[in-house]
Amino acid sequence: MKSESPRKVKLFDITLRDGSQSKVATRIKLEDLLKVARKLAASGIYGAETWGGATFDVCVRYLREDPWERARLLKAAMPNVQNMMLIRGQNLVAYTNFSDDVVRKFVHAAARNGIDVFRIFDALDDVRNHQAVIKAVKETGKTSEGAVCYTISPVHTIEKFVAKARQLEDSGVDQIAIKDMAGLIDPATTFELVTNLKKAVSVPIHLHTHDNCGMGMMSALKAVEAGCEMIDCVLSPFAGGTGHPCTESLVFALERLGYDTGCDLEKLTDAAEEAKVMRSLYSDFEAPYSGVDCRMLVTQIPGGVMSNLSSQLKQQNALDRLEEIIKEIPRVREDLGWIPLVTPTSQIVVSQATFNVLLGRYKIIANHTANLLKGLYGETPAPVDKELQDRVLKGQPPTTVRPAELLPPMWPELEKKFPGLSDEEILIHAIFPHEAQGYFESKQGAR
Ligand code: CO
Repeated sequence: MKSESPRKVKLFDITLRDGSQSKVATRIKLEDLLKVARKLAASGIYGAETWGGATFDVCVRYLREDPWERARLLKAAMPNVQNMMLIRGQNLVAYTNFSDDVVRKFVHAAARNGIDVFRIFDALDDVRNHQAVIKAVKETGKTSEGAVCYTISPVHTIEKFVAKARQLEDSGVDQIAIKDMAGLIDPATTFELVTNLKKAVSVPIHLHTHDNCGMGMMSALKAVEAGCEMIDCVLSPFAGGTGHPCTESLVFALERLGYDTGCDLEKLTDAAEEAKVMRSLYSDFEAPYSGVDCRMLVTQIPGGVMSNLSSQLKQQNALDRLEEIIKEIPRVREDLGWIPLVTPTSQIVVSQATFNVLLGRYKIIANHTANLLKGLYGETPAPVDKELQDRVLKGQPPTTVRPAELLPPMWPELEKKFPGLSDEEILIHAIFPHEAQGYFESKQGAR
């Protein structure tokens, strides 16, 4: 009798990007990342997230490290592993929209420097903001993954998430990610969401969750049971709390349940020991608390957002207003069309809520809030407050086209401005114009 072969589950170890970002503010230098990368590569892990998100920014701004070299050397250290990056749709690795030609140049450069999988998300979940990236990834022959941001609000239902996933599939993505950036998804919702996605789309599903509320591992397991093909996880020294489900535990548990992860637990343990050393080198950048914090189950405000808010209020001697601001945040979210709290919308909502509490409700409408109300970020999950919108539009019509349609091509001008530079170098200037000068000066000095 032929025995059934175990179902494969593809694990993505994300220690080197989101793990580092969640625990030590992305400060880990390339030479230390490489030591873990080599050991991860030997473990048989399917994929690794190493690039994008805040890494590009931190490389240029603080570490003065070539972000492109980082991508190349990490890929070279893990030639057998699918190398993933997180890309913020039309914002690339920054906080504002870039023109389509810059998006295309960036994606091609990333692919050339070793990125295999592009996880694309948009803070508003406006699929039009994914499309230029998806198209460029297709040209490179690499894998595009469209992310649906998981958030809790009166307008976010399973049907709505599934509809977004279908739109992404129609836009040509190779796989769909559930991006639970705040660790809010619970096991029951995960099971229901994955089950419904499996019925509605034909591309593979990838779960990204955090362990802020202590539910990460349960949600990961329920996702696998519902047919989810790919799971994000981190080596044990980075697991739990603001981090993610643990790679070694997942491998052990899934294998015991009859799944095949293709990973060698002993080799993973070697990698974890290396990761423990790596984290200890960056203790200066540890947050005061990075464990499980279940307040979010009530406030629905991500841990990272809460800690930033607290430290800002402390600086302004206004920490006693924290509770009021926490109550104001959902109100502002509602006024702004129930946008998810993720970069950069989390900052927009929190700043506006802070202004409202400290100065009076909408006495000041921050610039970013006004731009969002005008439609410059894209379509919000629900309509924005009409009165506020009228106030900022001053009789002008709101923007309803794909926001990047408003941006003329920027590349020809950039090439003229920076003659003799490579596309990679020009992209650093284009994406972080204020930090680029200091970055290139420090590179020169190092020579
Ligand atoms: Co994350």
